[in-house]
Amino acid sequence: MKTAIIYASTYGSTKKIAQSLHDQIPDSVLFDVKKDAVDLSLFDAVILGSSIYVGQIDKQLKTFTTKNKSELLTKKRGIFFCCAFEENVHDYVSANYLPELADGAIIMTMGGEMDISKMSFAHKMITRMVQKSEQGKNRDVRLHPEKISDFVSQMFSQTE
Ligand SMILES: Cc1cc2nc3c(=O)[nH]c(=O)nc-3n(C[C@H](O)[C@H](O)[C@H](O)COP(=O)(O)O)c2cc1C
Repeated sequence: MKTAIIYASTYGSTKKIAQSLHDQIPDSVLFDVKKDAVDLSLFDAVILGSSIYVGQIDKQLKTFTTKNKSELLTKKRGIFFCCAFEENVHDYVSANYLPELADGAIIMTMGGEMDISKMSFAHKMITRMVQKSEQGKNRDVRLHPEKISDFVSQMFSQTE
């Protein structure tokens, strides 16, 4: 099954997960939504991956999904998030994806990374504030590449 993996990443976490998915899914092609044009007609399945900043996925990925809604609805769909607060996944889905697109999709969080040394000044400020908050205190934020094989098997053993 030809699969497009379309991702948006700011500091590289989502890109790492997208790359690992690509390594595990035969006949898959990787697209950075900020750089690459995608011809969806060539694919049977689509995986959409973005990190979360202040509750939102990447703007360009969001625009891509609304512009291509009709065509995306004809594909097998997977959605993943890289984020620090994985317990909010339902909010992230409803705030960022049209309900029709989320419906029937395999949806998973893949953890995240918070490397302050890589961040812009504004992101450092927000991160320091969040780390002092009740929700952010002592939080162990790390990627979960071990979830990738589960995502892949759910995606490709799914029956219509
Ligand atoms: C400024 C800032 C805001 C963030 N906001 C959220 C958020 O609202 N919810 C969440 O779960 N994670 C949040 N995160 C965590 C990121 O989603 C996480 O660091 C992710 O791994 C970044 O992936 P990327 O490098 O692919 O962009 C935030 C991180 C930063 C730096």
